[in-house]
Amino acid sequence: MPKTILAISGSIYSASYNTMLLKAAQKLAPSGVTINLLTLESIPMFNQDLESDIPPEVVRFRSAIEAADGILISTPEYNRSIPGVLKNAIDWASRTYEKKKNSFAGKPLLVIGATQGNLGTVTAQYHLKKIMAYLGMQVIGQPEFYLSAAYDKFDEAGDLKNEDTKNHLKAAIDVLVSKL
Ligand SMILES: Cc1cc2nc3c(=O)[nH]c(=O)nc-3n(C[C@H](O)[C@H](O)[C@H](O)COP(=O)(O)O)c2cc1C
Repeated sequence: MPKTILAISGSIYSASYNTMLLKAAQKLAPSGVTINLLTLESIPMFNQDLESDIPPEVVRFRSAIEAADGILISTPEYNRSIPGVLKNAIDWASRTYEKKKNSFAGKPLLVIGATQGNLGTVTAQYHLKKIMAYLGMQVIGQPEFYLSAAYDKFDEAGDLKNEDTKNHLKAAIDVLVSKL
């Protein structure tokens, strides 16, 4: 049976390296697995006032998560943590009380990340994994995938230049696929 992975970029920047990394990941999916890409620019700021009439963008976001067999998140690191846009979207998906569980609960999750800096989003990923474990996701611990100096890592077609890096990303995706 075909499986789907929802890939969420933690960056809404039009030239985002994290979105670029997810596009490279899409090409590495094995046959029978589709990686669908989602960016977060349309998600409004969480506000409890809006919970009496959930915005349609949030309904669509929750449905996309719930329809997926697994989740792949590529996060930038902002000030040694995750960007506000990503935390905001997670907060929305965590507030599905009418369904008795949040949209992410129980699903396998692979976290990756790209930065223009040298530390590969280590701290942001650490924070994100803790949040998502709290939400009841099956967070993959190994392998880890960190992309430093991202400005130097993609060719003009948006593919990862280095074969070892590509193989490492493929190995991480394969672990996620094994849990779908
Ligand atoms: C507000 C802000 C804070 C940042 N803080 C960090 C940081 O703590 N660690 C890091 O490695 N890079 C940091 N950066 C640089 C990002 O890694 C870089 O902008 C990266 O390209 C963002 O990902 P994107 O290209 O997917 O948007 C920061 C960038 C911004 C805009």
